[in-house]
Amino acid sequence: MENNYHVPVLLKECIDGLNIKPDGVYVDVTFGGGGHSKEILKKLGKDGVLIAFDQDPDAQRNKLDDPRFLFVDQNFAFLKNNLRLLGFKAVDGILADLGVSSHQFNEPDRGFSTRFEAALDMRMDKQGSKTAADVLNTYTEDQLHKIFGIYGEVKNAKSLARAVVTARVSSPISTLQDFKTAVAAQIPKGKEHKYMAQVFQALRIEVNGEIDVLERFLEQTAEVLKPGGRLVVMSYHSLEDRPVKNFLAKGKFRGEVEKDFYGNQQKPFTVITRKAVVANDEELEKNSRSRSAKLRIGEKI
Ligand SMILES: C[S@@+](CC[C@H](N)C(=O)[O-])C[C@H]1O[C@@H](n2cnc3c(N)ncnc32)[C@H](O)[C@@H]1O
Repeated sequence: MENNYHVPVLLKECIDGLNIKPDGVYVDVTFGGGGHSKEILKKLGKDGVLIAFDQDPDAQRNKLDDPRFLFVDQNFAFLKNNLRLLGFKAVDGILADLGVSSHQFNEPDRGFSTRFEAALDMRMDKQGSKTAADVLNTYTEDQLHKIFGIYGEVKNAKSLARAVVTARVSSPISTLQDFKTAVAAQIPKGKEHKYMAQVFQALRIEVNGEIDVLERFLEQTAEVLKPGGRLVVMSYHSLEDRPVKNFLAKGKFRGEVEKDFYGNQQKPFTVITRKAVVANDEELEKNSRSRSAKLRIGEKI
């Protein structure tokens, strides 16, 4: 594995959470640098299977050379169909470590980081149909307002959206510098870093359809996990953590738990982590990426 591709977060907690059976079938839907996958393989016997997904072709350079390992170069929104194509109807555990890898974040030309002057790309799947620049140059003012406000929790989302549509009339917004110039008056003094991070989060979520994809994935986990199988999900911001928490607790993203005629709760999972698991001081000191990580675990009923 390439050094520095990604340092796995909450590694032991994730592996323990999967409750691995040596001859089971496990899925790591966010392979990245393979840090979690390698540990899963260590726990599997010769009849165990590990299926890894990653939509970023760069992750393929980390593929594990092991007969028990299968790699799927697809979005995890297509979990169920891909498992079926590989001949697996049901699996024993699924791990998702959401968001981008350190590698993606540290590569200037991927456009994920506010540290580099680069084209505003932000696609995890390099074949994806729209870049962050496309969002900025083609979405309506209302759409941009919503994205900045909901996905970035940007306070002045409305005036930011206005500044973008005004600026793009004279020239398209293609790079970080174009964007900063276009919206300079909107960026609060002394809070540039936090503000840009929120705006970038909003654009990244939109470009990759992250919330929609997460909900589609969660619904499929309930269909493909065997009873007693574990779902382990790590998220890095509240927009992701909320649907995970709600789905594990209620089998739904919003509203109340459904009950049957007799008043029994209709939900696919038992919650194993009543409170989200977070990194301890030692990990926080070693790996700043672990700071916002929240781990939730459910067991299929
Ligand atoms: C946080 S990293 C995972 C790091 C990994 N656990 C490790 O230890 O190296 C997330 C990875 O999942 C991939 N990814 C994110 N969303 C995805 C999706 N919807 N479908 C497939 N892969 C996705 C990203 O390309 C990235 O490589």
